[in-house]
Amino acid sequence: MNSLWQGRWTTKARIASGLVLFVYVLLHFLNVGLGLFSLDLMEQAQDWRKAVTRSFVGGIVLYAAFLVHAALALERVARRRTLRMPVWEATQVVLGILIPFLLFVHIVHTRVAFQQFGVNDRMGYITGLIWDTSSGRNQAILLLIVWIHACIGLHYWLRGRDWWQRATPVLIGLAALVPAFALAGFMVQGRAQRARLQDPDSFGTLAELYNWPSRDSFAAMDTITGNGLSVYWGILALVAVIMAFRRWGMTRRSLKIQFVDGPEITGRKGMTLLEMSRASGVPHMALCGGRGRCTTCRVIIEDGSDLLHPPSPEEQAALRAVNAPPNARLACQIRPTEPATVMRVFRPDGRRARQHESLGQERKLAILFLDMRGFTARTTGQLPYDVVFLLNRFFDAVVPSITGAGGTVDKYLGDGLLAVFERNSAQASARAALEAAAGIGSALETFNKALKAERADSVAIGMGLHLGELVLGEIGAADNAPRTIIGATVNTASRLEAETKRLGVEALVSEDLLQAAGIDTETLDLASLDLRGVRHPVAALPVTKASTIATLLRDHNA
Ligand code: FES
Repeated sequence: MNSLWQGRWTTKARIASGLVLFVYVLLHFLNVGLGLFSLDLMEQAQDWRKAVTRSFVGGIVLYAAFLVHAALALERVARRRTLRMPVWEATQVVLGILIPFLLFVHIVHTRVAFQQFGVNDRMGYITGLIWDTSSGRNQAILLLIVWIHACIGLHYWLRGRDWWQRATPVLIGLAALVPAFALAGFMVQGRAQRARLQDPDSFGTLAELYNWPSRDSFAAMDTITGNGLSVYWGILALVAVIMAFRRWGMTRRSLKIQFVDGPEITGRKGMTLLEMSRASGVPHMALCGGRGRCTTCRVIIEDGSDLLHPPSPEEQAALRAVNAPPNARLACQIRPTEPATVMRVFRPDGRRARQHESLGQERKLAILFLDMRGFTARTTGQLPYDVVFLLNRFFDAVVPSITGAGGTVDKYLGDGLLAVFERNSAQASARAALEAAAGIGSALETFNKALKAERADSVAIGMGLHLGELVLGEIGAADNAPRTIIGATVNTASRLEAETKRLGVEALVSEDLLQAAGIDTETLDLASLDLRGVRHPVAALPVTKASTIATLLRDHNA
């Protein structure tokens, strides 16, 4: 349960307020749906509901939940650096923004009408008032918007839980029934009440019963609605300005670098050209690791050399030693502040590319070690064909989670594998590894269900996830040199995977990876581990069920 409440306090407040609103909305819709049976039943349920929501405490909780939820959601939108987001999240954000536009008028004609104009805002009053009007159609749309928004929020909060995944097919059916029930209730009572209100004989009685608002009261309510919407427009404009300002701040510090015969990349002022290349995933030779001791990172500045700072004596000496032309510079030593066009002397194509790749390319990447637990004991005495069959089924089940997250299997290691996540940035790489680990956890659960149906023992796994500097290179004779990764990071990830067995968890995720993924580790229960062959203790998050990593990622959506 605790993993559901991980994250910053704002995340927790958004979830808690969302839950309050979900319960309110569900009861409200069920209440409207009772109109399918009778107006009396509908209004009786409304009386019970109002006893809570119009009590002093109930009112505070409800309106505080609404304000907190809306404010935190808008704050989250304002803080976004990009509008790129998954479709489900974009849907939820857009629907959430639309809600107040349609909700104000409803609140004003019910709660405000009750408090300011003494209207007895019973269900019969509001359904009869808006049925067969544009307001009625808008309120029906509002009902659907609110419900979809709420269901998406609830689903993406709970989707990592086993019980939720099992119950999802049933819940989808129930989720479709709720708005259908509410709309049916609204339709039946709206039509009936509208007819009564239009009948001069019954209108007088109903007007007295509901203390029907006067023409002036309706006009005042329209004014209040208009003012409320104006304030909301102002808030949205403020959010848009904050977003634009943040983006402007980012672009002000950024600049374009055009590689001849290569991509155009965006870098930030203050970075070296080599750092910009690496951050954008552009292969760039740098044998000494960017320390100014090899000249393999050198570039020819085709355009913009006059805007660069002059070379240091060390850079000058290094370039002179290789007889470099005047416009050659070391990519690891220059920090462009203006756009430039450059050409890598050692480009990643042709023979030089082979040379480049074979010598190795240093990247900061996330890797994942996966091992099937108890494989030897499980397969002892089995026919080799059966062992191969089991392994291939297992890999068929879990590897799509790796490739789907943008990773590749670097090598298979008997009953395990090593995967690497080559992305443009360390953050993207780290998040891809976490996404893959969560997917593997879910895939394993499905795989084990299939094994159980076959009366076979389930499979357990251990995963070690770490992020750090790696060397990617072709190791072997020319023309027969598979690409692989080496470095201390690989060893650390391997040791973390081994440690999962002792701790009895499915995964251990290093703090370095979590932080690179943008996850606040302050609130996480990290273990400090002494790993064989690793000089310093490594802080890592033990994860009992790997599928729950999805929740961790969702709560820290960058
Ligand atoms: S990487 Fe060696 S000098 Fe730049």
